[in-house]
Amino acid sequence: MARKPLIAGNWKMNETIAEGVVLAQEISNEMEPDWLDKVDVAVCPPYTDLKPVYTVFEFDKLNIGVGAQNVFWEPSGAYTGEISVPMIREIGCSYCIVGHSERRQYFGETNDDVNKKVHALLKDRVQPIDPIICVGESLAVRDEGTYIQFVDAQVKAAFAGVQADVAKAAIVAYEPIWAIGTGRTATPEQAQEVCGAIREMLAVMYDQDTAASIRVLYGGSMNEGNASQLLSQPDIDGGLIGGASLKAKSFVQIVKEAL
Ligand code: 13P
Repeated sequence: MARKPLIAGNWKMNETIAEGVVLAQEISNEMEPDWLDKVDVAVCPPYTDLKPVYTVFEFDKLNIGVGAQNVFWEPSGAYTGEISVPMIREIGCSYCIVGHSERRQYFGETNDDVNKKVHALLKDRVQPIDPIICVGESLAVRDEGTYIQFVDAQVKAAFAGVQADVAKAAIVAYEPIWAIGTGRTATPEQAQEVCGAIREMLAVMYDQDTAASIRVLYGGSMNEGNASQLLSQPDIDGGLIGGASLKAKSFVQIVKEAL
């Protein structure tokens, strides 16, 4: 089954509103609209930038999606500092990153939290917001040699209780922690090994058809120089880009590599 590639930029905690609007406009200027028939493109700015960035692409009539970097699972209530699924839906978000390793590391997010967020996002498919579920091992786990089991357990936990028909809308991003922001990219073979294992795990949890429908991305120091080789791997359906997504030319070049 042919899966449409997805190139998503994770801006992390970068870009004020003014800076974010400039970056979105630069991305819009660099992008050829017909590329978006062949590759899905999204940017995930901080919450404060979501609406302004969405408005830039809307004004330019450019089909670039906007995603949040996190969400809380309750729809509303006394949860100071949190943002809900209906709130990001109203902005026009079509994606939401869930369980990024930085959230797991610095904000104590657990596999159980990730699962609740995935359920909250997949509950209403009328105006869908597709979760981009991040998984990936630390250097210590890689060196121990148990990284496949570790990532499999994260995938199983994230999808617990999710039915096959809705699971197909989810996206998994394999982001080895040792490759994030370090310039030390996984080799295409290392990335393919784990992305392939993720798909096998999805086939065990669901079935071949569901596993073949779910997009699996790679993330971790992906840039315009290494994207082509990574994206040519059979089980890598796109990229979740950090640092290189903050430079319009680099980000758009990665999009071109996915065509
Ligand atoms: P870098 O591309 O900066 O390594 O970040 C990857 C990442 O964490 C994307 O979510």
